[in-house]
Amino acid sequence: MLLIEFIKGILHRSPKDEDPLVAASDLRNAVLNVGGGNKDILIPEYYGNWRHLLLDIDPGRDVDVVLDARKLMNLPAAQFDAVYCSHNLEHYFKHDVAVVLTGFLHVLKPNGFAEIHVPNMYGVLKRFIDTGMEIEDILYESPGGPISVLDVMYGMSRQIESSGLDFYAHKTGFTGNSLMTALQRAGFPHVWIGETVDTFGLKALAFKERPTPSQVALLGMGSA
Ligand SMILES: C[S@@+](CC[C@H](N)C(=O)[O-])C[C@H]1O[C@@H](n2cnc3c(N)ncnc32)[C@H](O)[C@@H]1O
Repeated sequence: MLLIEFIKGILHRSPKDEDPLVAASDLRNAVLNVGGGNKDILIPEYYGNWRHLLLDIDPGRDVDVVLDARKLMNLPAAQFDAVYCSHNLEHYFKHDVAVVLTGFLHVLKPNGFAEIHVPNMYGVLKRFIDTGMEIEDILYESPGGPISVLDVMYGMSRQIESSGLDFYAHKTGFTGNSLMTALQRAGFPHVWIGETVDTFGLKALAFKERPTPSQVALLGMGSA
């Protein structure tokens, strides 16, 4: 059974589900964007030709799969070439992070990988302490507006207040080492961690098998 048919059968539908996302003959790679919010929030260009399914607990116009990511085990196994998860993993309690990562392993094909972006708590707290800034001072400007240290630690205050939804709160945080440990403990044997250029972000690439030359090229891991 095709993934999209299965999902449509067991999960809530968004209006977009009325239009088939993929033709039966679609052989493109597939990426599951976990906690993606909406498709105005861009994912990296190298996924441009891939099927892009967006999963979120918050139903919205672009959400293909409405699901709490702690329940990824309810999806069929080994359907995706990649899981993309940006600024979502900090929205779970530490013990639930392990559940979500186990779900990534479940939905990924054997040679699949996860790409994860989270705040870099070391970089954020170092700036906080080194500069003597106040906790509600602006740390940086994001596409969604100004971000304070408080926002990084506990979730974006404006969004939590306006939505009234607790799942917009942050419940944990990561350093490079703790993110590496979480991914390895979940069962990813090959993990690369990088700091993003602004030093307030971490990027992880986690593979079930040793990355192939084409994955290394796609992800620009040539020097890894
Ligand atoms: C800060 S936004 C990140 C959006 C986008 N990925 C980005 O990089 O800007 C966090 C997203 O995680 C989603 N989320 C929070 N808890 C979730 C859960 N338990 N399962 C799935 N998605 C969740 C929220 O609805 C929201 O869309």
